[in-house]
Amino acid sequence: MLWRRTSPERGLHMSSYSQNRLRRLRESPAMRRMMRETRLSVDDFVYPIFVTHGRDVRKEIGPMPGMYQLSLDQLISEIGEVSELGIPAVLLFGIPADKDPLGTEAYEPGGIVQEAIRVIKQTTPELMIVTDLCLCEYTDHGHCGVVADDRVDNDRTLELLAKTATCQAEAGADMVAPSAMMDGQVGAVREALDSKGYKGTPIMAYSAKYSSAFYGPFRVAAESAPQFGDRMGYQIDPANIRQAMREIEQDIEEGADIVMVKPALSYLDVLAAASEAFDHPMAAYNVSGEYAMVKAAAQNEWLDSRLVTMEILTSIKRAGADIIISYHSKEVARWLASEG
Ligand code: PBG
Repeated sequence: MLWRRTSPERGLHMSSYSQNRLRRLRESPAMRRMMRETRLSVDDFVYPIFVTHGRDVRKEIGPMPGMYQLSLDQLISEIGEVSELGIPAVLLFGIPADKDPLGTEAYEPGGIVQEAIRVIKQTTPELMIVTDLCLCEYTDHGHCGVVADDRVDNDRTLELLAKTATCQAEAGADMVAPSAMMDGQVGAVREALDSKGYKGTPIMAYSAKYSSAFYGPFRVAAESAPQFGDRMGYQIDPANIRQAMREIEQDIEEGADIVMVKPALSYLDVLAAASEAFDHPMAAYNVSGEYAMVKAAAQNEWLDSRLVTMEILTSIKRAGADIIISYHSKEVARWLASEG
């Protein structure tokens, strides 16, 4: 129960407004500060980063102003900045040199994400590295797993996800985040990590991941749009909440350490219900489309970017998120620091 009526039996007839003037609690800045129930902290944030092959690549992502595909040399200054801002963690996505049906680069020791992990560990060891664990950036068909007979084969995909998780942990990933929405992926990854000596590596599961049009800009960023069909066959139908709760429950049973709801903004009800029902730390992904909408409106001066961003992120935390993955992380860290 997030909130409670003081006297439920009296219901709406509780009292007249002259005794209960709620504006008393809003009158001064000091009072408002004392009454504030939800506060964002830089500690809540995870910053996603897109890494790519080559040198001197700093390519802005069209629908995500302020976000870039970065080559490893450019990554160094980027993560230096992230760390200086006090953001505790980054989430890595890779754009491979070549895509193929089995997403091979995802689980090659020399794959782009594995290389990026080594670079970050060398230069900024205090930064926590989380790796997105999926095949869609690496497959030529753009689906999140192995395609057979025009559908994604769940169990063959599990083997490749397990292999990728191990490969990321070997490179030095501090936490892996399976996001392919295959049944059994958390269990398969846990088993693989344990058997290779990574019992201490936590799993942040993209548990309630919806089949959302809000991922559009990300697919430009990661060059990962499905080349045929869509992801409705494995990601959750946006109309459903009960399946989201079952997904979370199942991931917890399979050993997830942190569970996630994604996207965040159109799914605040799911986030609130999940954080009520489960004691696991809850992550929310403030996805690319949510970021793009704010940036596009702000560029037209239709919305105040800072106020709207803070309002959105506060709503995500108020709904129950303990961890917020957001492309806004760097600007928020600066705003929070300037508030003192
Ligand atoms: C990988 C993955 C996606 C996102 C995060 N991990 C894309 C997808 O499922 O299509 C989307 C993130 C965003 O939109 O910001 N499967």
